Amino acid sequence: MSSAASTSRPVDTSFIRSRLGSLLAVAPLSIWTVNHLWNNLAAFKGAEAWQSSVTEYSHPLAFFASSLVALLPLALHTIWGIGRLKTVRPNIERYRYFGNLRYVIQRLSAVGLLLFLGAHLWLAMLKPRLTTGRPEAFTDIAGEMHHHLPTLLVYTLGVLGVSYHLANGLNTFAMGWGLATSRRALKKVDLLVWAVFLGLLAMGWGAVYALWDAGGQLPPPADH
Ligand code: HEM
Repeated sequence: MSSAASTSRPVDTSFIRSRLGSLLAVAPLSIWTVNHLWNNLAAFKGAEAWQSSVTEYSHPLAFFASSLVALLPLALHTIWGIGRLKTVRPNIERYRYFGNLRYVIQRLSAVGLLLFLGAHLWLAMLKPRLTTGRPEAFTDIAGEMHHHLPTLLVYTLGVLGVSYHLANGLNTFAMGWGLATSRRALKKVDLLVWAVFLGLLAMGWGAVYALWDAGGQLPPPADH
């Protein structure tokens, strides 16, 4: 046996998995999320603009490629996140710091996101394609948003959860990867977190408002 082989250490796959779950949350998942909220702002320009920004793809393969870029990292991050929820316990009872409270809310928002994204992916992405062979229609989502209060509430809270989870996640990411260690650097990251949080809220709630407003011109959906 060569000396190199005899001294080689086993690869720590749990370390690699945990780094991957963390990294995928930022790129491409967070980038994709920002782009998705931005595209939804096309609702201000009306049905055609929204439909072409959010649901139409130049080629069927582009739809699968885009889904893969979003869904595979989401699935891997979710598995990683559930693992973290089970194994890492927050210590807020012992250490009542603001940072600890933020971490607890990060985990609560993760549970909320699990439910919200499950419902959103089924109702807005899969169900229309499986039942009608077409993507979600602007008139359907705008009508639901205006005439069905639970839909409006779920999207309003869902956007709040996504905005918090993504923005505060940048803080834990920067600490976890050793990108911000000094007090000054952490303050800068905090500013970034606030900017990202408010920016995402403005985009997401803006899109929800535009859909709700457009729904006012439409009759209530048949099943309500
Ligand atoms: C739009 C979807 C999502 C985005 C953009 C996102 C983004 C992020 C980011 C950037 C982080 C920080 C990573 C780090 O500290 O290294 C994070 C942490 C976390 N995510 Fe997500 N996430 C999403 C969905 C989910 C879902 C569905 C779950 C379900 C369990 C989840 C569970 C968690 C947990 C538990 C943490 C904290 C882990 C810890 O530090 O202990 N995330 N997320």
